[in-house]
Amino acid sequence: MKPFKIGLLGLGTVGTGVVRIVEGHQDDIKRQIGSSIEIEKILVQNKNKLRDIHIDPHKITEDPWEVLEDKNIDIIIEVMGGVELTKNYIIAALEQGKHVITANKDLMAQHGHEILAKAEEHGCDVFYEASVAGGIPILRTIVEGLSSDRITKIMGIVNGTTNYILSKMSLEGASYEDVLKEAQELGYAEADPTSDVGGFDAAYKMTILGTLGFHTYITVEDVEIKGITDVSAEDIRYSSHLGYEIKLLGIAERKDDLIYLSVQPTLVKKSHPLANVNGVYNAVYVYGEAVGETMFYGPGAGEMPTATSVVADLIAVAKNSVLQVNGSKPTISSYKEKKIKPLD
Ligand code: NAP
Ligand code: HSE
Repeated sequence: MKPFKIGLLGLGTVGTGVVRIVEGHQDDIKRQIGSSIEIEKILVQNKNKLRDIHIDPHKITEDPWEVLEDKNIDIIIEVMGGVELTKNYIIAALEQGKHVITANKDLMAQHGHEILAKAEEHGCDVFYEASVAGGIPILRTIVEGLSSDRITKIMGIVNGTTNYILSKMSLEGASYEDVLKEAQELGYAEADPTSDVGGFDAAYKMTILGTLGFHTYITVEDVEIKGITDVSAEDIRYSSHLGYEIKLLGIAERKDDLIYLSVQPTLVKKSHPLANVNGVYNAVYVYGEAVGETMFYGPGAGEMPTATSVVADLIAVAKNSVLQVNGSKPTISSYKEKKIKPLD
């Protein structure tokens, strides 16, 4: 079978991880989808930037249309970030019948509705597992694993940068500024870290989790947002003496016909499992009426964990395409079947 050809938009932290996994796990990928995956072209902002990965320079371009209009490319992976420009690129890719994978929570939380509708119109898949909680396959868990249940609450630590900052301040007495800088150097923070520390990144993720978990259309304006910029070293010390850790918690809760959403620094008893989620790790509690309490834990940001989720989406899209070519209905659930829609 002919190889799947990929167009990659972005070769930063996540894009580099995607190239490493596609190249390093090629044999295992081939065993699953029956053909290989080739990265055909990569869009970057600056072709001359020094990179710690070797890429054939002919594959790298600063012209988005060289990637988006390449007829050989079957799947676009968007890991460049940003909203308006990126949305235009993704819509253009879908209009050309290309499947899309994105790690972009800002985009999916704000324009997911429109993007999924466009995908459906053109018979394409759009997968976005990496947009929430990095390496934890939480969207698939909600959409597939818990699809039989009625989810009533989703709560957790969904931003790696702020958890890294808060836990280093608490456990090592490190300064806010130093740890934020470290998180940026490690590739955890957003291009504009205000999104992390201001709670907006977590709010976008809660918007996506709530939309998928409660089968309704939630926007970020529905989320009460408070970040960690006002949390002082003193607050952390006093809380610790009283037996609490301060964690930036996202909460999405369904009560009767109403949904309550918030992101805020929260006092968590030291005995609670969420109090012991440290560093860049994330954890998401999901309460279902039938299953009860479940918790999912893992690295919430960073090159390789995030790329794991992106490439898992890539394999899912490739498997769907193989099944479609063979004339049978895909059995692997696609988010387009769970597309966001207004509450009726
Ligand atoms: P990054 O390290 O800043 O990389 C961005 C890449 O996109 C760079 O290669 C950059 O080119 C390219 N780029 C940016 N704007 C561009 C433009 N206008 N035209 C062409 N190329 C452009 O970002 P990242 O950390 O990999 O994050 C990418 C996306 O993944 C974001 O949506 C982020 O929210 C999401 N995400 C990140 C993580 C994480 O841990 N980092 C985890 C989950 C999701 P140059 O290399 O030439 O500068
Ligand atoms: N900046 C984000 C975080 C990246 O720190 O969680 C992962 O989405």
